Amino acid sequence: MANEEVNTGRRRFLTATTAVVGAVGAGFAAVPFIKSWSPSARARFAGAPVSQDIGALEEGQQLVINWRGQPIFIARRSKAMLDILPQMDALVADPKSDNADQQPEYAKNTWRSIKPEILVLVGVCTHLGCAPELHAEVKPQPFDPDWKGGYFCPCHKSRYDLAGRVYKSQPAPSNLPVPPYHFENDSTLVIGVDPKGAA
Ligand code: FES
Repeated sequence: MANEEVNTGRRRFLTATTAVVGAVGAGFAAVPFIKSWSPSARARFAGAPVSQDIGALEEGQQLVINWRGQPIFIARRSKAMLDILPQMDALVADPKSDNADQQPEYAKNTWRSIKPEILVLVGVCTHLGCAPELHAEVKPQPFDPDWKGGYFCPCHKSRYDLAGRVYKSQPAPSNLPVPPYHFENDSTLVIGVDPKGAA
């Protein structure tokens, strides 16, 4: 995708292959473009691991990077967002992430993540491959009057919670996958490589 200038209404920033979406609180918040967010074309082509600085990612914001030709969602969840997750268990199809194909063992927990606040997902709907949209706010939506925040796939209306767990009785059959990843340090994520010692 070619670079283009986008006016978010708050400030102008550049979008490229890497896109950033903020979505919490009073609405969508733009964050400044950060050069290092775009992995090198060579790394993408090779399917090599991709390092990502997430130090500037604020609560409620999500950035999207490209790894092996797939969008990877990286979101920082607030405590309020995390507190909602246990309440969603009754509404989602696989609350305990028992489908082992959809995440590594180290992400088989309440948050579906290594650090509770940092969510990492393959951003491809498990129905027919559309890109789910993040609607992080708890507020009535046209597609769900009792919306508790999460992802909505506009293609056939599948809903996922803020851990990427699919609601029951949706076109999508399973949770959004968690890719292999680990933290190189507090603010650097590496997509494509498991943590040391992980099976
Ligand atoms: S591709 Fe997402 S619901 Fe069909």
